Amino acid sequence: MNRYSKVIGTGGYLPETIRTNEDISRHVDTSDSWIYERTGIKSRRIAGADETASSMAEIAAIQAIEMAGIEAGEIDLIIVATGTPDRVYPSTACLLQERLGIQNCVSFDIQAACSGAIFALSIADKFIKTGAADKVLVVGSEICSRLVDWTDRGTCILFGDGAGAVLLDSADEVGILSTHIHSDGEFEDLLYCPNPQAATEANKDEAGFINMRGNEVFKIAVNTLGRIVDETLAANDMEKTDIDWLVPHQANTRIIAATARKLRMSMEHVILTLENQGNTSSASVLLAFNEGVRDGRIQRGQVVLLEAFGAGFTWGSALIKY
Ligand code: UT7
Repeated sequence: MNRYSKVIGTGGYLPETIRTNEDISRHVDTSDSWIYERTGIKSRRIAGADETASSMAEIAAIQAIEMAGIEAGEIDLIIVATGTPDRVYPSTACLLQERLGIQNCVSFDIQAACSGAIFALSIADKFIKTGAADKVLVVGSEICSRLVDWTDRGTCILFGDGAGAVLLDSADEVGILSTHIHSDGEFEDLLYCPNPQAATEANKDEAGFINMRGNEVFKIAVNTLGRIVDETLAANDMEKTDIDWLVPHQANTRIIAATARKLRMSMEHVILTLENQGNTSSASVLLAFNEGVRDGRIQRGQVVLLEAFGAGFTWGSALIKY
C-alpha cells in the first residue's frame, strides 16, 4: 500500500500591531501609492516586544492541532522554518515542542529563507513516505521586522511578521502529490542578512539587517518560478488547467501575477494575503494556505500549487491534493 502525506489541519497567527504604508512614509522617502503600485502591499503586522518566533508558532500550531482533532502528543516530528529563531540554539522547533507539552518527538529547524515552508513540507513528506513519521507539524514563523533596517526604503516597505502551520498525517490516499526544491548559492549576495555575532574581522561592522538588490532579485524570481511551475506539472503529468489554486509566496503582486499568467490562471484562483501582511518570509505560503482553507475557497479534493522563492537563492513548490 502506498503512503502519502495528507493535510489534516492548518493554522495561522498575525501579531496585533498594524504598520501601514502611511506610517512608513512618515520616516522614509516613500509613499503609499509607490509601495502599493510596485508591490501590492498596503500594511503589514509587527510583532509585539514580548513575542518571538516560537510564541507565534505556538498559536498557529495549536490552531492546526485543533482543526485536525488530535492531541499534541501524537505528533512525531516538528519542523520549523525560520530566519528569526528565538535563540541560535536550541532550535525554535525544540522550544515549540516544549510549549506544546510534547515529551517525545523529533524537532528541528530548517533555514531556507522565504522558501522555508516549501523545504519543510518537502522534508516532512519524505519522512512520512518512508514511514519514519506519521504526524508531522510544519511551521513557518518569522519576525522579519527585527531584521529590517527601518531607514532603508528598498526593504522596509516589504516585510511583515507572522506564523503559519500545517499538520500532515500519513494516509493511503494521495495528499502531497510532489515537492520540488532547489538552491543556488551563486546569488547569495543579491539578498542576505549578516549575522554580526559570527562575523569575520573583515565584515565585523556589517549590521544584522536584510540587504537586497530588489530589482535583480525580482527578475530572477519571475523566471525561476516560471520554471518551477513547468517542472511541477511535468513531474505529475498534469496540465495547467488541472491546478485549482495557486498559493504563492507573498513577495510582490507583480511576481505572483507573472506566475499566474504562466499558469493561464485568473487572479481569482490565487490566494493573496500580501496586501495586509507584506512578505512574512517562510510564514507567507502557510498563512495564505490557511486563509484559503479556513474561508472555504480551498475545498477537499482540489489541487493546490504552493511555491516560493527566497535568499540563497532557494526555490521550490509543493503540489497538494487537499
Ligand atoms: O521574498 C524574497 C524575494 N524577494 C523578492 O522577491 C523581492 C523582489 N523585488 C521587488 O519586489 C522589487 O524589486 C522592489 C519592490 C523591492 C522594488 O521595485 P522595483 O520596481 O524593482 O524598483 P527599483 O528597485 O528598480 O527602483 C526603481 C526606483 C529607483 O529610483 P530611480 O533610481 O529610478 O530614481 C528607486 O530608488 O524606485 C526607487 N525606490 C523607491 N521609491 C519610493 C526604491 N524603493 C522605493 C520606495 N519608495 N520604497
